[in-house]
Amino acid sequence: DCIKVFAPGTVANVACGFDVIGLALDAPGDEMTVRRKDTPGITISSIEGAPFLSKEPGKNVAGVALQAFLQELGQPDMGLDVTIKKNIQPGSGIGSSAASSAGAVVAANLLLGKPFTQEKLVRFAMEGERLASGTAHADNVAPAIMGGFTLVRSYQPLDLIRLQTPDDLWVTVIHPQIEVKTSDAREILKQQVQLKDAIRQWGNVGALVAALYTNDYGLLSRALEDVIVEPVRAILIPAFYELKLKCKEAGALGGGISGSGPSVFMMSRGEENARKTAAVMDQVYAPMGVDYKIYVSRI
Ligand code: HSE
Repeated sequence: DCIKVFAPGTVANVACGFDVIGLALDAPGDEMTVRRKDTPGITISSIEGAPFLSKEPGKNVAGVALQAFLQELGQPDMGLDVTIKKNIQPGSGIGSSAASSAGAVVAANLLLGKPFTQEKLVRFAMEGERLASGTAHADNVAPAIMGGFTLVRSYQPLDLIRLQTPDDLWVTVIHPQIEVKTSDAREILKQQVQLKDAIRQWGNVGALVAALYTNDYGLLSRALEDVIVEPVRAILIPAFYELKLKCKEAGALGGGISGSGPSVFMMSRGEENARKTAAVMDQVYAPMGVDYKIYVSRI
């Protein structure tokens, strides 16, 4: 028996929601298979698209997530083989490690007759994130597993909420082909925030959630603001502010850095605006001499 799953890319943070809000994309996504094998233990028999990733289960996010899964199942020696086809580049800011971690545990859960809830699967996949970035953040793995928009109300204890999505909300993502390691992008952050910035940020988070539930695109547009993390990380992304400004001028609602970058996401009402945003991203990046890819998804 073999289970094959599509493991979607994800946008973490979604501007104001650092480490707590995330959303799932239609593309790009990885393809993963998990199958039972007779010999004990986890093996990763092939990794397509990213040969530099380790096939050692203890050093691969999918392996680590599966170890947590099997441990909780009480069968740490069960024989499972994994294959990974990566379409999401590591270090892209579109949840590459999360897709592998999430895909592995979702596939294993299906293979074994769904012994675990989605919340448990998120917990296992978070172990992959701990390996990849040094922190077991859930704002990529939760949307990868639960779909749509998700909110982490609390990490301890873990309290996950799947949020509603407006009818016609689209997201355009540009992935400049430079690598930003999440661990590096976290290291440059300040550990203290000013109270005035915190006030603005939680005002925006509340408004973002309200906008999703009321289909209020104007409020959503105003809420897509990050005064804490984006100002520090913007230097990692070529032409970040120009890109954001031009996309908004062309009709996008707003956006920000996707996860820890270098990808940038912009939200739009309707497919037409999302495609226009893609065209503007193309115009800004084409002359810069940096390779890039652009993806349009309905949320
Ligand atoms: N919330 C995490 C961060 C996501 O921004 O560091 C990493 O993809």
